[in-house]
Amino acid sequence: MNAFLRQLAPSVTNLIRLDHTQALATFHQYDPTASGRFRRGIADNVCLQLEIHAQLEEEIFYPVLRLVLDDDAMKKAQPEHDELRTLIARLKQMVVTDPTFDHTFNELMRQVMHHVAEEETTLLPAAERLLPQQLTDLGAQMARRRLQLTASRGGEFAGSLARSLSLGTVLASANTLLSGASLLTRRGDPTRSWTRPGRASSSSSSGAGFPTR
Ligand SMILES: [Fe+2]
Ligand SMILES: [Fe+2]
Repeated sequence: MNAFLRQLAPSVTNLIRLDHTQALATFHQYDPTASGRFRRGIADNVCLQLEIHAQLEEEIFYPVLRLVLDDDAMKKAQPEHDELRTLIARLKQMVVTDPTFDHTFNELMRQVMHHVAEEETTLLPAAERLLPQQLTDLGAQMARRRLQLTASRGGEFAGSLARSLSLGTVLASANTLLSGASLLTRRGDPTRSWTRPGRASSSSSSGAGFPTR
């Protein structure tokens, strides 16, 4: 990658932060009083975003960071992904009329926020400190791999979008599919992160509980 493109390309850490913000925005679209079709669509959409995000981190980010970082946060990252996958699998198998569906969705949001807070306060700053020369190349790898993964699951995105059709969800999912363009505005702006949920969604000022649409 030449120097000019390197300047424009997003870093892997900012790509990860953007994913976190988009997933939180989708979580905040959820409304326990809405129709089952809508709630199912939101749940499926956020599960899909999280599955792709976790795969990208595991394939591209974690292996490189592990070479230079061996602390508790690094060791917990993969087990926490595994726990999230267990919860995602349970949610995907549930019928939306199950009385524990909302609770399970809320538990997923809680676990994701915990995991993301750790990444944004420890792993991402560590990567920026320890791997400054690799962040852009890793970002390019992640962007390419994302295109492959989202293309292979385009039908799932479309189905969940159709059920959860709202402007916010459409925008969040469109960003997931096309992420990259808006990344340039995020370079060096760590305040726009999952750990600051009030900035992620105009419809909610809190990261706790269910927001209203
Ligand atoms: Fe992660
Ligand atoms: Fe992450």
